[in-house]
Amino acid sequence: MAEIVTKESPFTPGRPVPIEYFVARIKEIERLERAIKQTSSGRNENIFITGERGIGKSSLAGFVRYLAEKKNFIGSHCFLGGVRDLEGMIRVIFQRILQQITDKSLFDRLKQIFSKYIKRITLFDIEVEFTKDSSELRTLLDNFLPVLRKIHETVKDVKQGIILILDDLNGITDVPEFSQFLKSFVDELATSNNSLPLLLILVGIPERRDDLIKHQPSVARIFDIVDLPPMSKDESTQFFKIMFDKQGISIDQEAISLMIELSGGFPMLMHEVGDAVFWVNTDNRIDGKDAVGGILEAAKNVGKKYLDPQIYRAIGSETYRTILRKISELPLGTTFQRKKILEKITNDERKTFDNFLQRIKKLGIICETEQRGEYRFINQLYHLYVGLEAFGAKKEKKHPNRTS
Ligand SMILES: Nc1ncnc2c1ncn2[C@@H]1O[C@H](COP(=O)(O)OP(=O)(O)OP(=O)(O)O)[C@@H](O)[C@H]1O
Ligand SMILES: [Mg+2]
Repeated sequence: MAEIVTKESPFTPGRPVPIEYFVARIKEIERLERAIKQTSSGRNENIFITGERGIGKSSLAGFVRYLAEKKNFIGSHCFLGGVRDLEGMIRVIFQRILQQITDKSLFDRLKQIFSKYIKRITLFDIEVEFTKDSSELRTLLDNFLPVLRKIHETVKDVKQGIILILDDLNGITDVPEFSQFLKSFVDELATSNNSLPLLLILVGIPERRDDLIKHQPSVARIFDIVDLPPMSKDESTQFFKIMFDKQGISIDQEAISLMIELSGGFPMLMHEVGDAVFWVNTDNRIDGKDAVGGILEAAKNVGKKYLDPQIYRAIGSETYRTILRKISELPLGTTFQRKKILEKITNDERKTFDNFLQRIKKLGIICETEQRGEYRFINQLYHLYVGLEAFGAKKEKKHPNRTS
């Protein structure tokens, strides 16, 4: 009887990658290491990590925090997703700083600074809960720089600097006061004649940076940009090799090529593909057949997670769906011309075609190539999913009673 081996998938689709599985990004890491070095010599550094959704911004930020902590920084990675005002932000920042300290004696020292604001600490200091009173939080906000200095003063015998990462900025960049706050804070620090070893990192898609600049143009020059591109073929190869290798699984060249091709250097898709292939595989060797099976499965997952809520629910129109199905009949990876598609569709579809193109472009499903009037799917898994959906719809039409 074959031995049943229960293994855990090393892939983490949709979550920042654990440090031990982080790969590539050498150039960006070098830039950020430089920032760590500058900061520890006493200078404040401000960086904006940007790039498309799912490109690996939070993972890189997490990795930098890890590197900074190794260089004796105290660090905090704050996710501001649900935060809509500066009082909420300041609460998250200081609460996280305390929560993320692992050293008990440091924690006890820092706790003193915030004793007025801490409402509750659970057993073993696992959870620290700050006040929600907005005037108390306002006081903390108005004294942001002095409070950070106090933190630095309190820990400087053992710590070199502070790394503060503000991630998931989508709610807070809408607030004009946030841009003003950043500008005044950085200016105040620069003109104070009293340096503070603070590495401030903001993390967000390019549109969030645009929001900030719209409210306060000087923000553009405050932050140095680290812009994450898709991973190269070599980096993607390294990624799949390392991930499977750690599980004692080997991969054929053909399988690797397929996985790289279909995930197009997007770490988010690489994890989806890797995870699906991992579960399709039954021995310790991944061949082309496993890769194809996994990729189809991944396309379904990706479609359900990222496309369904956006297109199939948001675009209620049946006309839009049929146009999309027709486009998906093109071979994977090819571009399409607006003109050519117009020839393929009905009169009714033609009337809404330009609106349709605008809409799915805005939703991040297709993009225009360098050539005007020419488009392609943002990635091949989206294309594959739309194709699978079209195939299902065709089957459904032929055999309406079948459920699968
Ligand atoms: N350097 C890397 N090595 C391995 N996996 C990575 C790397 N970077 C990102 N990933 C993986 O890619 C996926 C997306 O990463 P992450 O969440 O960091 O992206 P993001 O740019 O912050 O996305 P969002 O815009 O949605 O916040 C995750 O599954 C993560 O584990
Ligand atoms: Mg992120």
